[in-house]
Amino acid sequence: MAKGESPVARKYHIETFGCQMNYHDTERMAGLLEESGYAPAASPADADVVVINTCSVREKAEDKLYHRLDELDFHARETGRRPLVAVTGCVAQQEGEKLATLGRPVDVIVGTQSVKRLPALIEQARVGLTPTNNQQPATSNPLIDIDLHQDVSFPLGVARHADPVRAWVTIIEGCNDYCSYCVVPYTRGHERMRRAADILADVRHAVDSGRVEIQLLGQIVNHYVAPDDPACDFAALLEKVAAVPGVQRIRFASPHPRHTSERIIAAVRDIPQVCKHVHLPVQSGSTRILSAMRRRHTREQYLDLVNRLREAIPNIALSTDMIVGFPGETREDFEQTLSLLEAVRYHSIFSFKYSVRPNTLASKRMPDDVPEAEKTTRIMELQAAQRDIQLALLQSAVGSVEEVLADSVSRRRASEVSGRTSGNTIVNFPGGPELIGRLLPVRVTDAGPHSLRGELLAAAG
Ligand code: 5AD
Ligand code: SF4
Repeated sequence: MAKGESPVARKYHIETFGCQMNYHDTERMAGLLEESGYAPAASPADADVVVINTCSVREKAEDKLYHRLDELDFHARETGRRPLVAVTGCVAQQEGEKLATLGRPVDVIVGTQSVKRLPALIEQARVGLTPTNNQQPATSNPLIDIDLHQDVSFPLGVARHADPVRAWVTIIEGCNDYCSYCVVPYTRGHERMRRAADILADVRHAVDSGRVEIQLLGQIVNHYVAPDDPACDFAALLEKVAAVPGVQRIRFASPHPRHTSERIIAAVRDIPQVCKHVHLPVQSGSTRILSAMRRRHTREQYLDLVNRLREAIPNIALSTDMIVGFPGETREDFEQTLSLLEAVRYHSIFSFKYSVRPNTLASKRMPDDVPEAEKTTRIMELQAAQRDIQLALLQSAVGSVEEVLADSVSRRRASEVSGRTSGNTIVNFPGGPELIGRLLPVRVTDAGPHSLRGELLAAAG
């Protein structure tokens, strides 16, 4: 619909699964749809267009799409009203036209490099949905764009930042690393660096719209070299972002251990706005499994990096991703993962059971030979060990004064606000919504299993 065509704007609803990249793509799609005259719907039932932005990093994530399409189909049959359905993201890229053969309604399929085409394809599909056929599930002939456009430019300020205090800014799209378990190089394509000038324009725009924390995104952020300025590597980019007036905090996800140079460690240490937290995916504590995973670092190299980071920045908080039950992982390999966990003492971890992903090297050459029940035992053991470490770390913060960026009214108590420390720990403390967006000194009074409680000290300004 063109702007002004109807007094009532068409409404869209986007559902997002997966990683921060996907959530950020959703913000871009929301912006693009709003520029084409759509308004956000209050609920999916109210929407003329439902976009499902999918993830395929693990099988469970992919299944969510199929459940959702079933629900939409069921709802359409019950109510006789069917929204136009667009599938975007990694499953769209991976499955393409196969999604049209599922017997569920899909009108538009847009791959990870075609986000900008979404409004045009929706418009085209809408024209095809006449009042007489709009109650029939469109199980055939969806409009598809899963081409590899290689284009990383977006109109300035198009993203509708969902968070009131933080903005994601993509610096790299895609990945060339081909870790043997990982589908990302197949769904997000080859690594493409965004121009530093575009990144900084996005940062300025985010600050102008009130965001004080910038989160730089990429599959391997520390691989960054600006295509428009070869002297600008990731450490230099951090400096440039910090120099944008109004940027109070900077985070990034995710660096690769292999590219974490002394220059980057120094940048995290020396740039005041860069949070003292690094998410450093390790995946396994066994060098044998790391080699089968094609991670290109050993357990020893990783632990050495952790030591160097801690020597340079003693209060640095670390988090990680770990996979259990990778093909060939023995009990001894898993115990190496447990011992690495104990050696590093992460503030938090994301842990996953290995799942076979299409096209990957592991899917072709390595049988998924760890039984599901054993994967479950291992992940529960890992998570139990992490719970103890995390609680001890949180308890050791009691009594300290942390700088907290307040970001929301607390979910549990309306008289409290919630925020994060530089180390990324959640802290709840008494206060009102006027504190949101401010960096505040908070004394930690109590520790729970996942977060801290505290009291606000006299805040400046
Ligand atoms: N199985 C299980 N976990 C996976 N991840 C990526 N691919 C797989 C897979 N096939 C995990 C890794 C990665 C995180 C985003 O998802 O830990 O860092
Ligand atoms: Fe996947 Fe490895 Fe690339 Fe990360 S570095 S996106 S795990 S291939």
